[in-house]
Amino acid sequence: MVRKIAMVGAAVLVFGGAAGAATSEEEALAKGRRAANVLTDTLRDQLNENVKEKGAGGALPQCYYQALTVAKEVETTTGIRLKRTSTRLRNPANAPDVFEQEALARFERFAKEGSLPSDEIRQEKLDGKPVFRYVKPIVTSASCIPCHGEKAALSADVLKALEEKYPDDKALDYKAGDLRGILSAVVPVE
Ligand code: HEC
Repeated sequence: MVRKIAMVGAAVLVFGGAAGAATSEEEALAKGRRAANVLTDTLRDQLNENVKEKGAGGALPQCYYQALTVAKEVETTTGIRLKRTSTRLRNPANAPDVFEQEALARFERFAKEGSLPSDEIRQEKLDGKPVFRYVKPIVTSASCIPCHGEKAALSADVLKALEEKYPDDKALDYKAGDLRGILSAVVPVE
């Protein structure tokens, strides 16, 4: 816990004293990227460490709490709202909004065509207010397979943990290289 907060804190310092608000698309893109990296890097490090310690089945129940904690930390310190979402959800609470649904559809098309962009930024209205919306594809890697791979190949403890916490899980049967979802950031306009 202490280490986790220290990691997020250190990364958030990169934003400088000011919050994560941006005046231009260029600035919003840079801030969105930095916030996305904080979430991705922190989750990857924690996941690797937990899986090594407890195995995938033991690490699984903590994923919910970890993603939420890091996103909350970033939002409190920068004002940037972060979220991971997908067309095939494990947790229905991660459901995409309309903008994210469109981004997912676009990225799935790009992925099929072999032209997936590294990320995108757009100025949009959210609840009537102008904001910048940053989206970045999340691609499945080998380290995701123990919890998101082919159902028949999952370990008994992972299946048990999934049944207990995510009875309606749709985030299985991914292969390395598949588009798993998107990371979405809402960057406030300064
Ligand atoms: C130890 C098991 C485990 C591993 C390994 C794992 N995940 Fe997950 N993943 C989960 C759980 C559990 C959730 C649901 C978290 C929640 O409740 O918000 C989840 C949720 C997600 C979500 C949010 C959307 C949704 O379906 O709810 C994305 C995106 C995601 N994982 C991508 C990945 C990627 C990419 C990797 C590999 C780098 C990975 N995961 C590795 C267990 C795992």
